Amino acid sequence: MSARLDWRSGPAGPLRGTVRVPGDKSVSHRALMLSALADGSTRIRGFLEGEDTRATAAVLAQLGVRIETPADGERVVHGVGLHGLRASVQALDCGNAGTGMRLLAGLLAGQAFDSTLVGDASLSKRPMRRVTDPLAAMGARIDTREGLPPLVVRGGQSLRGIRYELPVASAQVKSALLLAGLYAEGETEVVEPHPTRDYTERMLAAFGWPIVFEPGRAKLSGGHALHAVDVDVPADFSSAAFFLVAASIVPGSELRLSAVGLNPRRTGLLQALRLMGADIRVENERESGGEPVGDLLVRHAALHGAEFPESLVPDMIDEFPALFVAASVANGRSVIRGAAELRVKESDRLATMATGLRSLGAQIEETPDGAIIEGGALTGGTVESLTDHRIAMSFAVAGLVAGGAVRINECRHVATSFPGFMDLANGCGFALDVAD
Ligand code: S3P
Repeated sequence: MSARLDWRSGPAGPLRGTVRVPGDKSVSHRALMLSALADGSTRIRGFLEGEDTRATAAVLAQLGVRIETPADGERVVHGVGLHGLRASVQALDCGNAGTGMRLLAGLLAGQAFDSTLVGDASLSKRPMRRVTDPLAAMGARIDTREGLPPLVVRGGQSLRGIRYELPVASAQVKSALLLAGLYAEGETEVVEPHPTRDYTERMLAAFGWPIVFEPGRAKLSGGHALHAVDVDVPADFSSAAFFLVAASIVPGSELRLSAVGLNPRRTGLLQALRLMGADIRVENERESGGEPVGDLLVRHAALHGAEFPESLVPDMIDEFPALFVAASVANGRSVIRGAAELRVKESDRLATMATGLRSLGAQIEETPDGAIIEGGALTGGTVESLTDHRIAMSFAVAGLVAGGAVRINECRHVATSFPGFMDLANGCGFALDVAD
């Protein structure tokens, strides 16, 4: 990712219309990985054409998997079976994607060959011991650079199942262990301190792998097979989140977000915004590809500050940057706690949001695991996204209600999760542009 791209988001609105955000990132990564290891061919519809998920597709292609792109947002993956991957002499580049790297670490730990996983500057600073330690307990051998990427995964190890209690709630760690568990002798059981997104479990079951799971717990044994089954990817709730906040805070707005994935482990922001007085309705709720999906109708509402229960944190882990914006323009004080994990995302999201919003005039006290935000008015100004896609999009939302234009530095990484954000946003009433 080379040339720099800055944005300017100006005061605008009301926001109107119907928006269909791109496919879910978590589901797209997992659909690629499981279909690569399956017997038979899988058609994935609604695939996220983001840089993160394309990086995972490229890694799997390097490992010998044939993947076709019949249309935008569609992939046909010709599975090679559980033991059909081939070594790549080149390093495997996961780009910006923590999900890609951590899940692939689990998947590659069980192969007969060595692999090297690398990432971009941001991913190269993200902690990997959370996956390499429990994988080592299963018998894997993975070298890191003092706990950071690159990861050198040594092949030819015999893995054995373990029971692992996750110290922090993380769907990435859980999923890495379950993927290694496909190759392990005996049972792999993962227990979480708080339930996290269960896409890996649901999809393994859909691909015919025997697995027992309930919120907070999953268990499987090695030695079965995956059978190709087509996957319909819902629209990504985390991408819809920017529009939920935007329409809530811009007077006169009424937006419909169509076919959004509503897995309960993802929709904590709905509860958080409702605690603040938001007007969001779920319509046309249905099931698609084993996942709950619905349309979200969001109207402007006068938001007030709230204290968010810590139990909501894992269910809205990626939505805090957007929530920070809502809280900084709400009436009164908001308190966020129990969210220290935000410090190890694509950037330190507690610090990046607090610093940026402060430079737009907001009153925010950063705490070790959250923030105390006194709502008020925002001014125009310049903020740093620190190449974090969700920070960039959150500040684009802030610009809608600021007293003047907000310049957001380094927005190119928005394409990792939300290609086309600028056009979709402008189509419903944002005033978002490339800055000089
Ligand atoms: C993800 C899990 C979450 C989330 C990330 C995607 C996944 O990370 O923040 O964007 O697809 O499993 P953690 O598992 O590290 O909390």
